[in-house]
Amino acid sequence: MILPIYLYGHPVLRKATELVTPETPGLAELIANMKETMYASDGIGIAAPQVGRSLRLVYIDVDILGDDMPELRDVRMVLINPEITVDESVPVKTREEGCLSVPGIHEPVARHEKIHLKWTDENWEQHEQDIEGYLARVVQHECDHLFATLFVDRVSPIRKQLIRSKLASIVKGKVQCSYRTKGFAKR
Ligand code: NI
Repeated sequence: MILPIYLYGHPVLRKATELVTPETPGLAELIANMKETMYASDGIGIAAPQVGRSLRLVYIDVDILGDDMPELRDVRMVLINPEITVDESVPVKTREEGCLSVPGIHEPVARHEKIHLKWTDENWEQHEQDIEGYLARVVQHECDHLFATLFVDRVSPIRKQLIRSKLASIVKGKVQCSYRTKGFAKR
């Protein structure tokens, strides 16, 4: 089932998330719905808070970028309770990002080029891996959602000033989207 995407300004995007357990009700269905919702909105990553659920759960599929970045071909990941550790000496790279919850805004964000990621997959197998490049960026963006952080929080103060009115429009519900959304403003 395609779920509405919660937009910037909705409090669920700023709420603390809970750890997922095998007993989390409806987990398999939620994962299936997140996948369907992400594909329907042409996203490459989605986090549970974006569909209104305060859980540490992310789905990523960057295969579509495989023509430009062959290392992303066939990369699909369900991340349950992901944990990122970063060596602060690892360089950052600035590159444009967008987000299904912040439609119409694309801004440069600095991210670590390499991270260490621990996560559990949908079969409850544990993984641990160094992740680099664009995938590291996507993982950092999605995991930020689990800690109430949006990419627009990380743009430079001057750029933030420039997008202020666009963000205010999203909060007011004055935004056009090709996918189903749920905003903060009441109709
Ligand atoms: Ni996002």
